[in-house]
Amino acid sequence: MAVFDSVLKGGVVVNHDGEGARDIGIVGGRIAEIGDLGRAGAGETIDCHGLHILPGVVDSQVHFREPGLEHKEDLETGSRAAVLGGVTAVFEMPNTKPLTTSETALADKVARATNRMHSDFAFWVGGTRDNAAIAGELERLPGAAGIKVFMGSSTGDLLVEDDEGVAAILRNTRRRAAFHSEDEFRLRQREGLRVHGDPASHPVWRDEIAALQCTERLVRIARQTGARIHVLHVSTAEEMDFLVAHKDVATVEATPHHLTLTADDYARLGTLIQMNPPVRAARHRDGIWRGLVHGVVDVLGSDHAPHALDEKAKPYPASPSGMTGVQTLVPIMLDHVNAGRLTLQRFVDLTSHGPNRIFGMAGKGRIAAGYDADLTVVDMKRRETISNEQAGSRAGWTPYDGRQVTGWPIGTIVRGIRVMWEGDIVAPGQGRPVRFAEALR
Ligand code: DOR
Repeated sequence: MAVFDSVLKGGVVVNHDGEGARDIGIVGGRIAEIGDLGRAGAGETIDCHGLHILPGVVDSQVHFREPGLEHKEDLETGSRAAVLGGVTAVFEMPNTKPLTTSETALADKVARATNRMHSDFAFWVGGTRDNAAIAGELERLPGAAGIKVFMGSSTGDLLVEDDEGVAAILRNTRRRAAFHSEDEFRLRQREGLRVHGDPASHPVWRDEIAALQCTERLVRIARQTGARIHVLHVSTAEEMDFLVAHKDVATVEATPHHLTLTADDYARLGTLIQMNPPVRAARHRDGIWRGLVHGVVDVLGSDHAPHALDEKAKPYPASPSGMTGVQTLVPIMLDHVNAGRLTLQRFVDLTSHGPNRIFGMAGKGRIAAGYDADLTVVDMKRRETISNEQAGSRAGWTPYDGRQVTGWPIGTIVRGIRVMWEGDIVAPGQGRPVRFAEALR
């Protein structure tokens, strides 16, 4: 009789082969067997009756602010929010202080995160004019998710706004590089359109043309240099339509907030939903849903970008852009599943199979023998109200405070370790770097 370290029993597994009742046996932090393990011995049995078991949810865009901006968040609190929300791995962004633009800065983050973060992790390395020549080396360092470039300015000082600067980086990358795509030149011309005290003018300033123009330039440069690109947080219907023709070189991220909130919400939520690229008119939200339904969208990222409430309370445009999201990605999207806007399988495709496929995660992102036992256990029927009190983030707030959802994360299992169950953190932080096929050697 097979003996496992632990067995998840009685759950409905959602996987590449569909949805069905299966047990999962774990040995040494990896998935060992999938099937009817009713008679198998196990060190620990986790009862999953009435629950769905998904491959671990990967959030490939978060800002956890450490080092340098720990009053907003740090790697421990950010990852606490992640696992409370059912997220098993995060890819964290380079606009910290110092910026993550060198081997030393990356190694420092990996050291801070290892055995302290609650989830597994990788770090995006900021692409700049200065490090363009060594981008191909930086992207392959241990713990690196790849190179990330800001073409439009946002929180922090990372910016490469011109075609030549972007081309210099893309000539040297071999892995897929990620882009914040808003045209800095147009943003500068339009700064005067910001209305003091009115965050609803944010999408007027940073308009859809700024986003589309930049994405068109980016795709052109990617083709000229033969590079693979990932367009982060696509926020306009026009970019979705444009990207349909460029799926051979470009992969696409959508965020839960661009799928859920619209410009009408500025009246109620003000600067809390001030974000780059902005939350826009409903037709853009609908266009992103169309992209999601048609398969144009490859992954979801929360773009979790926490700021303290007193910073957010400054009058627009002094208020910083960014909102929390890593903890609410799963509940907000499961609520969309329950509303019939996407299937649970498509959710898994976006949050596990998608990151596995486009970033080449080694041994993560599928429920398959030999893969890391990263699992997100959810109750599709549970009705809950999202609240600020639940927030694991140091920021302590969510734009969804008071929102009722159906579908809720119950458990987070990272490499076979149960790290969250029923809203409690039940293991010390044991996070490790995600490994990537293209950087194993
Ligand atoms: O709104 C945003 N906030 N967009 C970004 O690209 C950066 C982020 C942050 O770091 O605050």
